Amino acid sequence: MALAVAFITLALTTAAVRTSPPDTAAKKPIITVYKDPGCGCCKSWIEHLIKHGYRVDVKDTPDMTEIERTLGVPTALTACHTALVNGYLIEGHVPAADIDRLLAQKPRVAGLAVPGMPAGSPGMEDAGTQRYQVLTFDKSGKTTVFASH
Ligand code: CU
Ligand code: CU
Repeated sequence: MALAVAFITLALTTAAVRTSPPDTAAKKPIITVYKDPGCGCCKSWIEHLIKHGYRVDVKDTPDMTEIERTLGVPTALTACHTALVNGYLIEGHVPAADIDRLLAQKPRVAGLAVPGMPAGSPGMEDAGTQRYQVLTFDKSGKTTVFASH
């Protein structure tokens, strides 16, 4: 099992190196993604990030609940993966364009979240489409709407 995880991590790392557009790769920071190795939609979201010029450091973990608790993601906002970029938390299937805007505007928030797994969000395209919101949140769980899709 440990070998399998190592292989998946290596495969994702290799993909990141191979598919990052050279012009934007230099400008966008590394995003660290914690995810369950058995979850496929996280992998699709990572591919979405890579397509949009992010370099992704994947950390497979079997205990996402523990990661979310340690990093301080409010329980009501949790989804299937948690990421860190420039000190911000990114919870769930947040579009890369919204992460771009977060990093440009630097609001005083803990991060962005797309709670649950809305169909049509990046990495969830196969599930159909539905309207969803991207929320900012602070560590106390206070949210504001950052984007509507
Ligand atoms: Cu998911
Ligand atoms: Cu997932």
